[in-house]
Amino acid sequence: MRKPLVAGNWKMHGSHATNAALVGGIATGLARDAQLAAHCDVAIFPTFVHLESVAALAAATPIALGAQDCCAEHGPGAYTGEVAASSLQELGCRYVLVGHSERRALYGESDELVARKFLAAQAAGLVPVLCVGETLAERDRDETHAVVARQLGAVLERAGVAALARAVVAYEPVWAIGTGRTATPEQAQDVHAFVRGRIAALDGNIAGSVRLLYGGSVKASNALELCSMPDVDGGLVGGASLNAEEFVAIVAAAARK
Ligand code: PGA
Repeated sequence: MRKPLVAGNWKMHGSHATNAALVGGIATGLARDAQLAAHCDVAIFPTFVHLESVAALAAATPIALGAQDCCAEHGPGAYTGEVAASSLQELGCRYVLVGHSERRALYGESDELVARKFLAAQAAGLVPVLCVGETLAERDRDETHAVVARQLGAVLERAGVAALARAVVAYEPVWAIGTGRTATPEQAQDVHAFVRGRIAALDGNIAGSVRLLYGGSVKASNALELCSMPDVDGGLVGGASLNAEEFVAIVAAAARK
């Protein structure tokens, strides 16, 4: 059995005041029904500068902490502006996103760099959440599987399939991120089954246990139908994770899996 995971990617949002209110609201929502955290892992991904204060706010709650990125180099070293995975681990992070489409598109991160970040994260004891997904143009050209296979393959090649036992994969079609346009449950399932199949070709046990999250305009209103798909093990949630009630409702939907 794969326990679902709902991960809130706060992107470049939040202040000390709004974070305190948001963590408080999520914690209160989760405390209302013990079944939620029992049946679904919950994690939030604030900005780097807020990690330490959010870690303190979330300390006595079932909410785990993640970072949105990490350096591909194993620190310490002369990498101005970068943050080492080991520092994130020290701050209390359990997870780190690698290869989010915004990093790939806006900051030119290559498959190779993402794979190195994946390795650096695991070397520091973090669970990387590897983000993959096609653009609208790629989907229109019928390249979705090829793109996802390439992005996943870059990591499998360098890290080996065994590394997937300590990782999460998030399928996020770029055209669905922040657009309000969600993949249909069938579209999500198709790519998730494809990803699991690629992993299964190398190791059936790992394929059966690795969690595959869907991301891209996940909301309380669509979370249940997305999570009801056999290969969707939760969600990577952006915009809707900034509203405690909405986020907890997504957790409740995933917990019903
Ligand atoms: P969204 O973002 O839920 O706002 O579409 C998802 C993500 O980028 O992880």
